[in-house]
Amino acid sequence: MRIVSGIQPTGNLHLGNYLGAIRNWVRMQDEWTAQGHDCLYFLADLHAISMPHDPAGLRAGTREMVAALVACGIDPERSILFNQTQVPAHAELQWLLTGTARMGWLNRMTQWKDKAGKNREGASVALFTYPVLQAADVLLYQATHVPVGEDQKQHLELARDIAQKFNNDFATEDAPVFTLPEPIIPPEAARIMSLRDGSAKMSKSDPSDMSRINLTDDADAIMQKVRKAKTDPEPLPSDAEALKERPEAANLVGIYAAMAGCSVADVLARYEGQGFGAFKPALGELLVESLAPITARYRELRTDTDALDAILAAGAVKARALAAPTLTRAYEALGLLRG
Ligand code: TYM
Repeated sequence: MRIVSGIQPTGNLHLGNYLGAIRNWVRMQDEWTAQGHDCLYFLADLHAISMPHDPAGLRAGTREMVAALVACGIDPERSILFNQTQVPAHAELQWLLTGTARMGWLNRMTQWKDKAGKNREGASVALFTYPVLQAADVLLYQATHVPVGEDQKQHLELARDIAQKFNNDFATEDAPVFTLPEPIIPPEAARIMSLRDGSAKMSKSDPSDMSRINLTDDADAIMQKVRKAKTDPEPLPSDAEALKERPEAANLVGIYAAMAGCSVADVLARYEGQGFGAFKPALGELLVESLAPITARYRELRTDTDALDAILAAGAVKARALAAPTLTRAYEALGLLRG
């Protein structure tokens, strides 16, 4: 068993990243490394150049994301924490897989459609081939499990399709080149929505900072964002079914449940009949209390550039060693002579 997952080092880590993915990374690290399995977590800096970006911001953001992940509980002694750029095998395998991935498959990706919008002709080639690099990220390590939020499910399915076609075309059934990875999606926080719009996911790219809780926000900012979160005038219902038509209310209750480690039914049992005037301060306080240790640790770590660079360098050494055998097999399977 091997766990692999990544995050783009653009912007702050937000509550959606944390509840949808990073908390699971930490749980899996704690459980699985104790049993001798590898957990690889990386910063998808190569993915970040698929959209217009500022080089200095990417450099700083990469280091900040290392600090944020360590603050959340990723332990570089137990997990392999690195950035894609320092493991060139990611970019190499991506090219090898572009021979297997089909234009039609990539054309169906919802992220491509959303991010390119109406301006497909003006979008970068990297934005279109983005999911092939993502497939390389996991196939390179023979990942068995990939902890992600719901929005990455389609990319993971594509990685499986690429692996399957490559194995069919270039390997035998008893000696496949790639393992088919399973996505691990937390049922209770698969899709955290924007605080301003219950139909849009919480995202780093939302221009309004009020739409998300950043893990770097202080207590005042968190309380204010929750207080101003969009809701409806109805009190909280007694059962979850009744939240179906109330996306903003469902989102806040879901965040509470995920953060408190209980079910939506438990939250409703406690707050049934109460309005948001009572529920919002309770949610704000829960968030402040839960995030305070992470924020404090992040502030300590983020300024020590040498220590952060050393974490990435050490992680890359380990990742390069794990990547090498699969990359070699992929070259060989395709008939490419490396000398
Ligand atoms: P990224 O950087 O957008 O997000 C990192 C992780 O956070 C999850 N996530 C969410 N979960 C729940 N609710 C939300 N509102 C929310 N927003 C983000 C994402 O699902 C993800 O798990 N393409 C990826 C990075 C990547 C990757 C990979 C992931 C590159 N290669 C290989 C897994 C395996 C991305 O941009 O995630």
